[in-house]
Amino acid sequence: MRSKIAAGNWKMNLDKTSAATLIEGLSLDGIGDTKVIVAVPSCYLSLALESTSDSRIIVAAQNAHHEQSGAYTGEISFQMLQSMGITHCLIGHSERRQYNGETNDIIKKKIDLCLEHGLTPIFCCGEPLEVRERELHKDYVLTQLKENILHLTTEEVSNIIIAYEPIWAIGTGVTATADQAQEMHAYLRSALANHYDSATASKISILYGGSVKPANAKELFANEDVDGGLVGGASLKADSFNAIMRSF
Ligand code: PGA
Repeated sequence: MRSKIAAGNWKMNLDKTSAATLIEGLSLDGIGDTKVIVAVPSCYLSLALESTSDSRIIVAAQNAHHEQSGAYTGEISFQMLQSMGITHCLIGHSERRQYNGETNDIIKKKIDLCLEHGLTPIFCCGEPLEVRERELHKDYVLTQLKENILHLTTEEVSNIIIAYEPIWAIGTGVTATADQAQEMHAYLRSALANHYDSATASKISILYGGSVKPANAKELFANEDVDGGLVGGASLKADSFNAIMRSF
């Protein structure tokens, strides 16, 4: 059975005090086996690890560099994350593709390094608005899969989490409808089944991201192939993220 996952992505938000308050406000009581992940800014990784040491909350990094180590001022490596006990990292978020020039080639390198260091990549994919309007979204996302993760072995791909995040829905307040999300998630899963096999595809959690909030999470997560959410804005308040964790 694949995991149900509520993942928060804080992006570049919150000062130290509000970050600590937010983590303390998260409550996993009664959420069953749903996994809860928070992807925090790298300067708060230690703080987040310490304050979640007696809870099941998984602390994730938002990014790491695509080279092993070296003269890359300001960057952090997967090896550093591993040495700190970080187990998950976002890779391929559309904001990094857009603002930091991350190409499919760079993202592929990050996926490989992440797995090499024993971390779980939370691999993000999704199409921009103009691609959706031209009804090319399936081809677009399939190309991302092909160029970013389909080189992995069956064993490796079983260790990743996928987040489908249509760019037109991120931070815009416009959410994909439950049908649009299910259609794309089923499509992604069938692409994985075709390339690997259906047993492998059925084990991979595919999260939806893009304006998930307490008001729409239940409807989105009720779909067979939607295994949870990657949540930006609504993960910045404990109340709303606590409500999203309870939307399965
Ligand atoms: P949002 O962000 O929930 O604020 O739309 C989602 C994401 O970028 O992961």
